[in-house]
Amino acid sequence: MIDEKILAILRNDTDHVSGEELCKIAGVSRAAIWKHIEKLREEGYDIEASPHLGYRLLNIPDRLIPAEIKWKLRTRILGKEILSYKKVDSTNAIAYAFAEKGLKEGSVILAEEQEKGKGRHGRTWLSPSESGIYLSVILRPQITPNEISKITLLAAVAAARAIRETADLQAMIKWPNHILVNHKKVCGILTEMKAEQDRVDFIVIGIGINVNTQMKQLPKGASSLREELPDSRTDEQVSRVDLTRKLIEKLEEDYFLLKKDGFQPIMDEWKRLSDMIGSRVKVVLQNRTFEGLVHDIDPDGALVVRRDAGTLEKVSSGDIAMVR
Ligand code: BTN
Repeated sequence: MIDEKILAILRNDTDHVSGEELCKIAGVSRAAIWKHIEKLREEGYDIEASPHLGYRLLNIPDRLIPAEIKWKLRTRILGKEILSYKKVDSTNAIAYAFAEKGLKEGSVILAEEQEKGKGRHGRTWLSPSESGIYLSVILRPQITPNEISKITLLAAVAAARAIRETADLQAMIKWPNHILVNHKKVCGILTEMKAEQDRVDFIVIGIGINVNTQMKQLPKGASSLREELPDSRTDEQVSRVDLTRKLIEKLEEDYFLLKKDGFQPIMDEWKRLSDMIGSRVKVVLQNRTFEGLVHDIDPDGALVVRRDAGTLEKVSSGDIAMVR
């Protein structure tokens, strides 16, 4: 709390703030201010201290610290509670366990590194330290279990929009849960839920984004936002803090839209951002594969593929590859 107060004061002032002033506003002693400044420095804040002038904030760390994400976060429920970890097995596993204990809707779990990041179909999601975003959100929507794919599509829309606005890259959605930049995967989404037969208890949306991750740390076919920046911007890093904040804002925006106007507007946006209708795909199911043209997405979020023989086939889970 005191840390947040000190930061708020330093952020508001481009000039130095005297120790005396900080004591007064934060309501603690000079020695306490010094201790808090030291702690903030250890967390990566670059704070200049000069004997006569006082303190000045020079630089903010690009770490997934709750105080940073919450700074100017424009949401009503998402991210009001943020739990951030240095290293975990999986943010989805943590979110699921907390949700079972009643952690409220909108809570966000973040980690700098995952040792057992979970992907779809039991795969692992490589999650090296301090270069990506590994985030899980708890939602408690009033939907039936078979509507969960709508939430995955909603998350894909939110993630693509957040990447576009923060990194200025042409993020595209590939059904159902991948975000591609220049045809390479930079983000994946894993939605898990606890449900009874006709009622969802809670949903955990897990989103992994390769942000400043180096190629050698990534699996084949994957890339990171930084790697996909155009040549004119290769000196840049993409701010993980800004992107996380934007992602939380977009998720809330789309979630509220879903509640207010139903799934159609999300679906329209999904189609616009996926550019898949009419493309040729190879569908890989558990026991067979086939090719065809993407005909549509049905109202439950399943992919409808027109097979070469002319029949329409619905695919609700499986892998697809674009055929070019
Ligand atoms: C996929 O494309 O297979 C989905 C990958 C989802 C990865 C994210 S990272 C944050 C969250 N925690 C996990 O263990 N997995 C998801």
